[in-house]
Amino acid sequence: MNMQSKHTADATTVEEGLAIQEEQAKLDSKFATDVAMQNTLLTPRFYTTNFDELDGIDVSSVRKDWDALIDEMEADPNKGHFKKNEDWDHVDWDGMDPALKKEFIDFLISSCTAEFSGCVLYKEMKRRGKNSDIVQLFQLMARDEARHAGFINDALREAGVAVNLGFLTQKKKYTYFRPKFIYYATYLSEKIGYARYITIFRHLEKHPEHRFHPIFKWFHEWCNDEFSHGEAFALLMKTDPKITSGINVWWIKFFLVAVFGTMYVRDHQRPEFHKALGVDPDWYGHEVFTKTSELTKQIFPITLDIENPRWERGLKRLQKANADLARAKAETGAGAWLRGVTAQARAVGAFVALYAIPAKKNVVPDSPRLQPAY
Ligand SMILES: [Fe+2]
Ligand SMILES: [Fe+2]
Repeated sequence: MNMQSKHTADATTVEEGLAIQEEQAKLDSKFATDVAMQNTLLTPRFYTTNFDELDGIDVSSVRKDWDALIDEMEADPNKGHFKKNEDWDHVDWDGMDPALKKEFIDFLISSCTAEFSGCVLYKEMKRRGKNSDIVQLFQLMARDEARHAGFINDALREAGVAVNLGFLTQKKKYTYFRPKFIYYATYLSEKIGYARYITIFRHLEKHPEHRFHPIFKWFHEWCNDEFSHGEAFALLMKTDPKITSGINVWWIKFFLVAVFGTMYVRDHQRPEFHKALGVDPDWYGHEVFTKTSELTKQIFPITLDIENPRWERGLKRLQKANADLARAKAETGAGAWLRGVTAQARAVGAFVALYAIPAKKNVVPDSPRLQPAY
C-alpha cells in the first residue's frame, strides 16, 4: 500500500514536473518569439518586395559565373553539416553566468530571426517565380537559411527556449523594399554575416579556451553558405549596371552606413557575450568592416573610409545616443520623454555625420566572383 501510494505520489510529481516544464517551455518560447517579433531599427526584420520585377532578371550576361555558382550550391557541400554530432559538447546552461546567458540567448534569438528572415524572403521568391534561374537560386538559398535557423533553434531548445518560426512567418510584420534595396541590404547582410562568422571562428581557433558554446565550431562551413549567397546577389546586381552607378551609389553608401552602424550598436549592447568570447567589440567591429569592405569591392564602386578618425567617433556617438534612447524608453515621465527625443535626434545627427565622411572610390572588376579566403 505504502509502495503503491509512494508510486502514485511519484507519478504525480513526475507529471506535475512535466506539466511545469511544458508550461515553462511555452513561456520561454513565448518569450523568445516575442523577442523575435520586435521590429525596431536594431532588430532583424522580415522583408517583402516586388517579386515580379525580381523574377524578370535575365542572367545571360553573367551566365558563366552564374552556372559555376549554381553548380557549387547544387553540390550541397554542407548537406550533413547542420546536425549535432560528437563535437557538440555539453552546455552547462544552469552554470552559465546569468548576464552572459541573457546576452547569449538574445544573440541566438536575433541570429535565428535573421537567418529565418532570409529563408522567408527566398522561399517566397521561389514560390512566386517563373524564371527558372531565379527560382533555382532562391530555392537553394532558402534551403540553406532554413538549416541555419533550425540549427540555432536546436541550440536554443537546450536552454528551454525556442523561436516559434511558423508563428513568425504568419504574424511578424513584413517591410516592403524595392528590389534594388533588397539587393543592397541582402547582399550586405550576407557578406557581413560571412565576415562575422569567420572572424569569430578564426579568433576561437587561436583561443579555444573562450569557446563557451559548441555552436561556434560550426561557423566555418556555415559562413561559406553566406559567402555563396552574397556571391549570388553580386551577380544579380552585375546584370544591370544601373544598380551600382549614378544616384544609386548614394543608396549604396546609405546601406553601408546603416548596416555597419546597426552592427556596431547591436554588438555594443552585449558586453558580457564579447567578454566571454575574449573579443573587444571595437576590434571585432573594425575587423568585420575591413573584411566586408574588401569583399564589397567586387561590386560596389565605393567603400566607406573606416580608417578615418571621424568614422570611429561617429560610431561611438551613434552607440551612445542609442544607449541613452533605450534607457529613456525604459522610464516614464516628461523628463524621460524629452531625453528620448533628444537621444533620437543625436542618433540621427551621428548617422548623418557618418554618412558625410567622403567614401573611397573603387574600380569594380569585370567578373565579381570571389572565393572565401579569410
Ligand atoms: Fe544563413
Ligand atoms: Fe545567407
